[in-house]
Amino acid sequence: MSKNAKTLGDRIRAKAGDAPVRLGLILGSGLSHLTEAVDGVSIDYADLDGFPHSGVSGHNPKLVIGMLEGVRVAVFGGRAHYYESGRGDAMRLPLEVLKELGADSLIVTNAAGSMRSDIPPGELMLLSDHINFSGLNPLIGEPTDARFVPMTAAHDPMIRAALKKAARAVGVTLNDGVYAWYSGPSFETPAEIRAIRILGADAVGMSTVPEIILARFLGLRVAAISAITNMAAGMSDENISHEHTKAMAPIGAEKLEKTLRQYLRDLD
Ligand code: HPA
Repeated sequence: MSKNAKTLGDRIRAKAGDAPVRLGLILGSGLSHLTEAVDGVSIDYADLDGFPHSGVSGHNPKLVIGMLEGVRVAVFGGRAHYYESGRGDAMRLPLEVLKELGADSLIVTNAAGSMRSDIPPGELMLLSDHINFSGLNPLIGEPTDARFVPMTAAHDPMIRAALKKAARAVGVTLNDGVYAWYSGPSFETPAEIRAIRILGADAVGMSTVPEIILARFLGLRVAAISAITNMAAGMSDENISHEHTKAMAPIGAEKLEKTLRQYLRDLD
């Protein structure tokens, strides 16, 4: 663990209390209102040295530590994307801090485009696996052998099963699928979408994969859910835009919140 993460952990504990956090939650574009549901202490990223200054609209760059459905959580209202800085490891410090605060697991959310006509906008997709289509990696430059992270069961089977059970209990359909990470910030071309469909991807987005790799590197169990906001490029007549993503995300956000609350209630 970096010295920075220890120092930040101490500062956060001084504000939010010493009780260990059980799990972390990263909220994607248009999904950040869940920060308000947590009964706890909110700290702006700007007050946490080394945290990303997310300039992406639809995010709420705050760390909120507190209780949600009786579980002590750390909710990240915003994330840093590779495309903001050219740094694949932009979320490394926040995730090191999460680990330092005592968490053993992480749930990542994002907005994504769908390549599956049976998973249309408004649906949720639980990642069964991912394809790193960017060729980038947040562990490039890590000098220790810990960089050789196995990714065979990176999407935790137990968390995935518990999320599915929770979704069923609250009447939410949680589709299964493979997510491809495209660097962004431009959207994909129709030819790129056809290519990644052939490669086996079901949805595409500009985040999440570096966080999954970093979580596994840090020994956090992890799972991720996409809120589908649009059909991917070339798959429908609709224009693809960030405005559209932000407008559509709340439909998925409602289902996501119901599912996550049930997941937390079910934790023992
Ligand atoms: N492509 C990439 N990222 C996205 C999309 C998309 O179609 N929709 C929401 N985020």
